[in-house]
This record gives sequence, structure tokens and C-alpha cells, in this order.
Amino acid sequence: MAAEPVNLNEFQELARLALPKMYYDFYAGGAEDEHTLKENVEAFHRITFRPRILVDVSRIDLSTTILDYKISAPIIIAPTAWHKLANPEGEVATARAAASCNTIMVLSFTSSSSIEEVAASCNAVCFYQLYVLKKRDIAATLVQRAERNGFKALVLTADAPRLGRREADIKNKMIKPQLKNLEGLLSTKVSSDTGSNLEADAREAMDASLSWKDLEWLRSITNLPILIKGILTREDAIKAVEVGVAGIIVSNHGARQLDYSPATISVLEEVVHAVKGRVPILMDGGVRRGTDVFKALALGAQAVLIGRPVVYGLAAKGEYGVRRVIEMLKDEFELTMALTGCPSVKHITRNHVRTEHERIH
Ligand code: FNR
Repeated sequence: MAAEPVNLNEFQELARLALPKMYYDFYAGGAEDEHTLKENVEAFHRITFRPRILVDVSRIDLSTTILDYKISAPIIIAPTAWHKLANPEGEVATARAAASCNTIMVLSFTSSSSIEEVAASCNAVCFYQLYVLKKRDIAATLVQRAERNGFKALVLTADAPRLGRREADIKNKMIKPQLKNLEGLLSTKVSSDTGSNLEADAREAMDASLSWKDLEWLRSITNLPILIKGILTREDAIKAVEVGVAGIIVSNHGARQLDYSPATISVLEEVVHAVKGRVPILMDGGVRRGTDVFKALALGAQAVLIGRPVVYGLAAKGEYGVRRVIEMLKDEFELTMALTGCPSVKHITRNHVRTEHERIH
């Protein structure tokens, strides 16, 4: 049996050992030069703390509330594709881990377990992540299924009118597995000899004409709150508030779309200032330590989402691995709160961190 990892990064190595190279590369990779992939992580390293001492931290409360759902810590599972490539139980195992950690799972549109299977497997609070395809009626069908199965919100991923260029997948001739929720709705090709078929298939299926005015259409087909994922600028944050979204997720899609997008933690504050508290702001990208969770909250996020670490946990140790990933991050976050003098998430403020541009007097 492999050694018990002591941090999230060690799960990545276990996943690499557990997975066929094609799948590991699919999970780990980013777009083109992978500049943003490195930056997402490294930008966190450039933020330091302004810890406060002699605060009573004998009791620490990590819990928070997102869209009225109380969760054990501000750490949510990001939507990531095809969990059955990591473990035969797929998204069902991930959802069970979310339930036992009392957190929210965002089920990917490109999941390998169905909406119904995930809903039946446990009582986790689930949000459904949506891509809008050219065949708009497919989105409507999926939204209805998510609603019927008790999903609590929609997450519209808006940074993927086309798929980013992921060169590892091209080299590996990554084969696209089945899209479980689209069975019977969309014919999916299974293989290609000429290289990754992910990009070509996505280009054929995705509706690249989707624009802000379509939010009205989306709102007309559902009563669920809609969060928009993929915002990196104040301009888009303001638009999102104007069209009435229930929340914003600052994200660059785990650096898999547009390389040289900024690290998400470096633009979080720009979005926070633009939104002025009108809707909750979440962020993802490069969160690997409890200190990262704290930094995101100090800069104005209500919660973070984690993508790759969840799949690495799943690949290394199944449901237990996902649970361990979340628990470890929670433990580290709790310790960070204690050592910065913050007994609850409400106590975390902008004054607890220093970004690289702020001078030390
Ligand atoms: C993703 N991401 C993603 N996002 C989305 O909205 N729908 C999806 O189907 C996927 N699929 C997906 C697959 C894989 C393998 C990865 C790594 C990522 C992006 C994801 O939701 C999230 O934005 C990032 O993963 C966050 O960055 P970290 O935590 O992986 O650094």
C-alpha cells in the first residue's frame, strides 16, 4: 500500500503512479505553454500574512454559508470531467465524499456518472455545471433533470466557447469517453487516429455564439439560482451582476483554456471591488494549501473550489482519497486561522494578508 500522503501535492504523485499516462496528463495538463498553470499556484506563494497574536483561538469555527447552504468549511468541489477515468465509481464516489465532509459538489456537464446516479447515491448538496451546446434543447433537458433530482443551483461555465489547446492530449491522442448525461441526446464519436478529438468534438458541439443576452433565456428555463464561472475582469463581473446572476466564480478553468490568463488569485480583488458585495464571489485555480484558502477569503472570496486535487485523491484512493483531500485542506485552513488570530471565517479580513505590491513600512 502506498504511503499516506501528508499534503495535497503528495496526492498528485500518487495519482501519477496510479493512472495511465494519457489520463494523468489529461487531468494535470493546462493550455499551451502552461504559463497560467504554474502561475495559478505560484501567485499564492507571493502573498504573505499579517498574523495577529494574542487572540483567543481556543475554538475555531470554519463553517460558512453559500447560497443558504451551511457547509463545514469554505471549500467546495469544482466541476471536473470524467471521474471514472480516475476510479470506477466515478462521480458517485466524489459526491459521497462531499456528503461526508459536509460540503458542496459541482457536478460537471462532462461527467461519467449521470445526474440521477449522483442524486441517488447520497445526500450531498449538488450544483450542476452547464455548457450550452448548439442544440439548446439539450441544455434545457439537462437543467430540468438537475432540478428534478434536487440539484440546488446551476453553474454556467462561460470561458469555453472553444476548447483550449492542451498539447499533452494532442500528443497522447486522448480519447473522449462517454458523456453519461448526453446518452441518447447527442451522438458522440468514440475515437480518432489523428490526434486528440476533444477539441474538434467540442467545436462541433459547443455553442460559440452564446452571449450575455442568453442569460435571459437560461433564466427563463429554470428557477434555480445561476452562478457564472470563468470571470476574470471587473467589466464581466459588472455585467454578470447586471444580468442577475446569484454568484460569480473567478476562474480560468484551471489554466486549461487561455494560456497567459492571469492567475485567479491575482484578479480576485479586482472582481470583489467591482461587485461591491452584491453577489457572493467564489474562486478556483491553484488552491493546494489551507493557507491558500485563507488568502482567497482575505481577498474577498466567500469560498474556494478545488479541481485537480479532488481527482488526484479519487485516482489514488477512491472516495476515501477525496475525503482525505478535503479533510487535509480543512485541517490546514483551521491551523492557518489559529495562527493568524481568526476564530471564525468572519474574522478573516483584508488586513490579514499582504500582496507583493504592498510595501512593508
Ligand atoms: C476542469 N474544469 C472544468 N470546469 C468546468 O466548468 N467543467 C468541466 O467539465 C471541467 N473539467 C475539468 C477537467 C479537469 C481534468 C480539470 C483539471 C479541470 C475546471 C475546474 O472546474 C476548475 O476551474 C479548475 O480545475 C480549478 O483549478 P485547480 O483546482 O485544478 O487548480
